[in-house]
Amino acid sequence: MKQSVKLIVGNWKMNGLGADLAEALALGAALQASPARARVGVCPPATLIERLSRAVGNTIEVGGQDCHAEPAGAFTGSVSAAMLADAGAKLVILGHSERRAACGETDADVAAKVDAAVAAGLEPIVCVGETLAQREAGEAVEVVSRQMAGSVSDALKGQAFAVAYEPVWAIGTGLIPTLEQIEAVHRAVRAALIARLGDDGRTAPILYGGSVKPSNAAEILHAAEVGGALVGGASLKAEDFLGIIRAV
Ligand code: 13P
Repeated sequence: MKQSVKLIVGNWKMNGLGADLAEALALGAALQASPARARVGVCPPATLIERLSRAVGNTIEVGGQDCHAEPAGAFTGSVSAAMLADAGAKLVILGHSERRAACGETDADVAAKVDAAVAAGLEPIVCVGETLAQREAGEAVEVVSRQMAGSVSDALKGQAFAVAYEPVWAIGTGLIPTLEQIEAVHRAVRAALIARLGDDGRTAPILYGGSVKPSNAAEILHAAEVGGALVGGASLKAEDFLGIIRAV
């Protein structure tokens, strides 16, 4: 299999105040001193995107955690893709399971956000993943394939983007699928990308997310079809996140 550059992205979720930029500065300094073998991204809360990209934008790609599907308008409390880009974001996480669950985001909503992100020049990271009940019912591949069919937009043809497979039951729990389970879903994600986008679906990195830590990163990152990681809790501390980045 070809060796492409892996993508390691930290998702800070609703964590991080100005004082926490020190962690990102420490990470940036470490990567400046000894460059990563991977592309490295951090998606802080929207309030920190501009400060983070000014501080470390040359070593770390900064991203948003969501965007609205419309470019502008009367949507109190929402942030558009162009606003994220204007603040310095290069990436945007879309369709995270926490938003699918808490905000009722559907596959069609995610696809519309993908279109908005691409129009604003952002690189979307489209998230999919099954619940524990779906995994236990033997439906993981089917569920993820269905999410892929609905969430991936034709706008991704010829664009830089990534997919993140994040089993809902592995997020923040310390539970991890077996490597065989990860590889089986990643193969299904790749098949869905090729079915939808043709040859343009062959190269996008497919990230694994859910309880990735320095101690388990190497074996996950070297599994077949794993093109990187989307990291929650362990991305909040520079030392832990570096341990994952150095495992590539
Ligand atoms: P944890 O790494 O904390 O399990 O979170 C994963 C995740 O949801 C990243 O988007």
